[in-house]
This record gives sequence, C-alpha cells and structure tokens, in this order.
Amino acid sequence: MTDNASESKPPSRRTVLQGATATGVTAIVGVTATSCAPTTHYTPGAVPTEPVSLGKPSDVPVGGGKIYADQKVVVTQPKSGEFRAFSAICTHHGCLVTKVKKGAIHCPCHDTDFDIADGSVKHGPAKDPLPELKLTIDGDKMTAESK
Ligand code: FES
Repeated sequence: MTDNASESKPPSRRTVLQGATATGVTAIVGVTATSCAPTTHYTPGAVPTEPVSLGKPSDVPVGGGKIYADQKVVVTQPKSGEFRAFSAICTHHGCLVTKVKKGAIHCPCHDTDFDIADGSVKHGPAKDPLPELKLTIDGDKMTAESK
C-alpha cells in the first residue's frame, strides 16, 4: 500500500463522529447568538426623540441612580442635588443598562461600567460614553430630552 492509497481510505467511524460534533457546536452557537439579539439590542447610544416624563427626583439615590427602562433613560445623582440624565442604551452593542451600583451604570451584556457623573466608560468593552440628556426638574417631575 502506498501513501496515496492510505489517503483515499474511507473515513474511520471516529473521524465521522468528530465531524458531527464540530457541526453540532456550530449549530448551537448559531442558536445562542440569534436568541439574544431581538430581546436586548437597540441602536447603540440611542436617545429619546421626544421629551420623556420620569419619576420624582427623590426616587434617585445620592451616589447612585435610577433606570427608567420604558423611557430608556438613566438618571443619576453623583452628589446631593446634582442630577444627570443619560441614555440607558449601551454604546457598545445596544443593550439596556440594568444596574447602578458603586458609582457606575452597568451594562450586563459584556460588563461595561459607565461613570454616574459624566457617563464616561470606567470599564469596557464599550469605548464611547453614554450620551447625556437635558434633564429638567420641575418640583416632583423630571423630564429628559436629547440635547
Ligand atoms: S452591549 Fe453593553 S457592554 Fe456590550
């Protein structure tokens, strides 16, 4: 038997199974990526196109913030009486941020943290800050809109 003859032998059972396993892994990865996209991704860093009404300023903790998921806005209060509003849509791949903790606005998709004071990236992978919004406080009402 020559070397060329051994290359033309039919694949062993083990070779066939390895190929099937590789195909199965590819299929699983495809399903995972597809199932994540429709529920969590918006246009990265999108801002409201019209003014949106939010809750009371007293709902926003000092040194923290509150996420208004329906309006896609996060309001923070880095220091007592200093309020800021940002888009709540991550600038990386467009997930909605979910937590404000330890001075950071957190995106759960790839663990980016944004600073509550200015929306800058404290820890990537996002590179761009959360867009800041114009925040108006009138008594117990807050309104945010794009600048
Ligand atoms: S979408 Fe927010 S970190 Fe990736």
